[in-house]
Amino acid sequence: MRATLLIVLGLAIGIISAAFATSVFRSRNPLPKALMNVMEYHIDGLKQSVASGQCEAGASRLKLQQMSMASIDVAPAFAGADPDFLHLAGRLRGVLADAAQASPADCHALDATIKPVLQACHDCHRKYD
Ligand code: HEC
Repeated sequence: MRATLLIVLGLAIGIISAAFATSVFRSRNPLPKALMNVMEYHIDGLKQSVASGQCEAGASRLKLQQMSMASIDVAPAFAGADPDFLHLAGRLRGVLADAAQASPADCHALDATIKPVLQACHDCHRKYD
């Protein structure tokens, strides 16, 4: 009886420590989620621009540039990720570099520009998120 109790106690302590270690690890590295949220913030802004029919070229370019900069850090932020993940991160970088260069002048162009970006987000989330 006493041995069983000790085993149960030992297991409980092990599980709690593992959960604690995982949460410490996560909170020590806020960068992956931070980058994702920065990109989400800007892509949401661009989607709203398209939806409201207000697509000022300078504002759109700035948002695309912000996303492009954030995307540069995705691969290093997920250090140790497998090659397929790194490939998808590279694709996002490429698509966003093109999008930032494209400088869409109106809502039609902006809509066409963000489509491949959203696809690149989706392609990775489908597999890894
Ligand atoms: C190469 C892979 C990859 C690409 C490309 C990618 N993501 Fe992510 N994303 C992830 C992973 C992995 C997570 C889960 C991160 C975690 O839970 O620590 C995630 C999580 C998120 C989250 C949730 C963050 C949170 O606080 O829980 C948001 C929002 C997000 N991504 C937005 C985006 C947007 C917007 C794009 C495209 C512009 C994008 N992601 C492109 C891999 C990717």
